[in-house]
Amino acid sequence: MAITFNSAYLDGFMADHEIAALAPAVQAAHNALHQKTGLGNDFLGWIDLPENYDKEEFARIKAAAAKIQKQADVLIVIGIGGSYLGARAVIELLKSQLYNNLKKDTPDIYFAGNNVSPSYLQEILSICEGRDIAVNVISKSGTTTEPALAFRVFKKLLEDKYGEAAKERIYCTTDKAKGTLKELADRMGYQTFVVPDDVGGRYSVLTAVGLLPIAAAGCDIDALMAGAAKARKALAEPDLMKNDAYRYAATRFALNQKGKAMELLVSFDPCFVMMAEWYKQLFGESEGKDDKGLFPNAVTFSTDLHSLGQFIQDGSKILFETFVDIKKPKQDLFIESDAQNFDGLNFLSNQNMSIVNKTVMDATILAHTEGGVPCAVLEMPEINEQEVGYMIYFFEKACAVSGYLLGVNPFDQPGVESYKKNMFALLGKPGYEERQAALKAKLAE
Ligand code: PA5
Repeated sequence: MAITFNSAYLDGFMADHEIAALAPAVQAAHNALHQKTGLGNDFLGWIDLPENYDKEEFARIKAAAAKIQKQADVLIVIGIGGSYLGARAVIELLKSQLYNNLKKDTPDIYFAGNNVSPSYLQEILSICEGRDIAVNVISKSGTTTEPALAFRVFKKLLEDKYGEAAKERIYCTTDKAKGTLKELADRMGYQTFVVPDDVGGRYSVLTAVGLLPIAAAGCDIDALMAGAAKARKALAEPDLMKNDAYRYAATRFALNQKGKAMELLVSFDPCFVMMAEWYKQLFGESEGKDDKGLFPNAVTFSTDLHSLGQFIQDGSKILFETFVDIKKPKQDLFIESDAQNFDGLNFLSNQNMSIVNKTVMDATILAHTEGGVPCAVLEMPEINEQEVGYMIYFFEKACAVSGYLLGVNPFDQPGVESYKKNMFALLGKPGYEERQAALKAKLAE
């Protein structure tokens, strides 16, 4: 049991031979990945990660998570992009979008350093008042502005509150040897965890980057890694027709070739919202370069059927949808009959709400295909650590192959630097004087 790709609803939008014709290109992408001969081949550590991870560090992660659970009411996880999204995605998917509001014996978790909003930071600070805090700061470089700024604030808060003992509550996930954060951690005696050299941010959720917060939230990281290991084995199959991650990648590519500019990842449970954010970064940063790539977007139904549904059904035909069909919800709710039937909804009664949710999905797929929108389906048996680990690896493998099919480097993100250079210049960072003058002249125009 694991995530599978169902192309049944693509009939009429795409012929089987169109996918079969991509077999040589997929085989070449597979070879480039596994023989490490393709673009970005120094960032392929994620391929073997589910088996070849640092077992000593893994044990330290579990011990640190247990310590955080004992010492803190609130864990602040500081990071941005690949140093943030994976952990939050897994925690919300496995636990709940409402994790912090649930009755639990694990700390509340707030994510900071993923924006520069003073209001957001003040709100988290006020939530922390009178409560015991721990901080996990995650930054490969240690110099990324958003998390560095947030860490400055929380470091001071912890030092003011706990004095010397603050260092027992600060956990750093960063480069193994170099960088500002590593230097500071060594100097201050903070416990450190490693972002491996050969794993890029958006592929790092199964390293300490994701695993420490995920374990602190009470998720079983052994099972998560076991699921990913299962996927690594199953998805090492080179034959396109026997590898669902490759069939998914080939289908996305073929739809892009046929003029679709956007993929909408569709889920029917709010617990998937942050996983969709993780998917957006994974595919957006990996494919969106050299003027190529599908724009990755996401919706949650039925919520967004009442907002974006109109566009999807009748608007310009720029997109296709990939439905995530979770066969078994984490919890179900029995709809009871009402003697007065005051709302006229007795036709829904005496069944589980998951049946209604599934029917909303079937109805939507039928409506959207009827409206000319190609719909692919990823079927996921249920939500647990094993399945989520498998799914993460599935998307990573599909994404890497998608990048190679497009002929881009799926493991770099040169475009992310542009805003940073301008921001540094405008904020007066030393070394950016020339750019600052040019930008200020432009703004004054
Ligand atoms: O995918 C990536 O590489 C980025 O999203 C980075 O993870 C993000 O920019 C944060 O970088 P750092 O971990 O160096 O602070």
